[in-house]
Amino acid sequence: MKKPAASPSLALSTNAVTVLERRYLKRDAEGKVLETPADMFHRVAHTIASAETLLKTGQDAAALENEFYRIMTGLEFLPNSPTLMNAGRELGQLSACFVLPVGDSMEEIFEAIKQTALIHKSGGGTGFSFSRIRPARDVVASTSGVSSGPLSFMKVFDAATETIKQGGTRRGANMGILRVDHPDIMDFIMAKRDQTVLTNFNISVGLTEAFMEAVEKDGEYAIVSPRNKEVVKTMPARKVFEHIVELAWNNGEPGIIFLDRLNRDNPTPQVGEIEATNPCGEQPLLPYESCNLGSINLAKMVKDGDVDWARLKTVVRLAARFLDNVIEVNNYPIPQIAEMTRSNRKIGLGVMGWADLLILLGLPYNSDEAVELGETLMRFITDEARQMSMELAAERGSFPNFKGSLYDQKGSKPVRNATSTTIAPTGTISIMAGASSGVEPLFAVSYVRQVLDNDILVEVHPLFEKIARDRGFYSPELMKLIAQHGTVQDIPQVPEDVRRVFVTAHDITPEDHIRMQAAFQKYTDNAVSKTVNFCNSATREDVATVYRLAYQLGCKGVTIYRDGSRDQQVLSVGKEQ
Ligand code: CDP
Repeated sequence: MKKPAASPSLALSTNAVTVLERRYLKRDAEGKVLETPADMFHRVAHTIASAETLLKTGQDAAALENEFYRIMTGLEFLPNSPTLMNAGRELGQLSACFVLPVGDSMEEIFEAIKQTALIHKSGGGTGFSFSRIRPARDVVASTSGVSSGPLSFMKVFDAATETIKQGGTRRGANMGILRVDHPDIMDFIMAKRDQTVLTNFNISVGLTEAFMEAVEKDGEYAIVSPRNKEVVKTMPARKVFEHIVELAWNNGEPGIIFLDRLNRDNPTPQVGEIEATNPCGEQPLLPYESCNLGSINLAKMVKDGDVDWARLKTVVRLAARFLDNVIEVNNYPIPQIAEMTRSNRKIGLGVMGWADLLILLGLPYNSDEAVELGETLMRFITDEARQMSMELAAERGSFPNFKGSLYDQKGSKPVRNATSTTIAPTGTISIMAGASSGVEPLFAVSYVRQVLDNDILVEVHPLFEKIARDRGFYSPELMKLIAQHGTVQDIPQVPEDVRRVFVTAHDITPEDHIRMQAAFQKYTDNAVSKTVNFCNSATREDVATVYRLAYQLGCKGVTIYRDGSRDQQVLSVGKEQ
């Protein structure tokens, strides 16, 4: 492979070019790279703008192509990885997120595994609820035998994923969800205690409000058979909650999602119930639904020491149109997914570079002002994206399931998309944009990061380097010292006001993390990808407190990670993937 070089016209970092050349750019059969990053952005802009012609929108497709190209190469907006990899190419599969139904028969289970394989091959990730599968040792009428239960079937999904490895694009990721009232819940909670199993899965327990109330009252809750919906027994809610906390404290899994809350915000309840999310948890979807994501780089949305609201509005509108066009030109892996996705037309516009924007404005991530700005900014983005979706509906028609949807019930004007906003982890596209990931705080001011399986990249935060040079405290030795430390909080050579702004994920409290997640969640249609970092000495009670706080503040789920609690991080939101 030729040595990657920074692209001057595009202002891509060497790291970004490395990532692009490894997995995103077109290659020939011998593996020779056939396109430049600029070619890739042209390919994507052209393909996505071609939807205008397909739909006969009356818009100037060439002018829009140019705009799409500009927001991508200006690193103001990037779509999710599959769009960059596959637009205008043979695969043509452009979505990152899928949810597949898993039924309670051998036929349905192995059908889902086949569908998973097709999705992983194209660079998408899959989420499943295994709650419909009857528990282990339950009866199986046809064979007069006993069933294996959801956990043993999850291992088959895991093995299939391991084998596929997404045909050289990227590792397949899965989310496995089990309802807290499933008879096998205690085993599920323990499923990843051994860190060598289910390595291609993130797992989350689907919590219900009945369960959370029982935890509060220290009461019992019902365990229900998925086969006949009969209550098989009751369990003490606190015991189950403590079990979840214990295992999450132990090595970060399982996560939790609040199922009733997801369903309260389900825009199309008339079509079905939400049982699962995509692999990183930010995108709840109906069975057979897919969603394409895209993120605005907030670091590029600053002007004269303030948010550049006018530019942000322009980019939100272009991005919402872009993402709606993706649905049109997308090549869906199976017909059921094409049908469901085109009927609801969910898109997930989000942000990256939030921590960078705060630094540029001089606001510490863990300040009230930052939390307030997060809320204001996300409200603005969702409002503008929704407005654009209404205009697109006028131009191209509302999403076909609009009738009977929550919008319809509330008497809202037709919209083109059942959802508009989602905060993705932006694990790879943030590297391309040179931005901090999603709405996460900086992971470190200077660090070594591992990307795409085995590559290692060393980075000093560019804003920090700039300030250090401008203020005259830059030295290679100091940067090295900071790289070893990760944090600048205990480094006296760094001025106090700089330290306050350059806080990292470990410098702030878990409550600070949750408060920021909740601020963004308040105005996000779908969910927010966020990891709450705990220091190694955090207690189980600390974890329980954060779970309760997340519930109280309206979050849709929680992912936690206690420093040093895992041998090797698998697919995590944001930093290491
Ligand atoms: O930055 P990029 O567009 O590559 O993706 P992301 O924002 O880190 O992840 C968005 C979603 O893509 C995840 O929630 C998964 O659904 C999916 N994904 C995946 O399937 N496999 C990966 N290796 C990474 C992401």
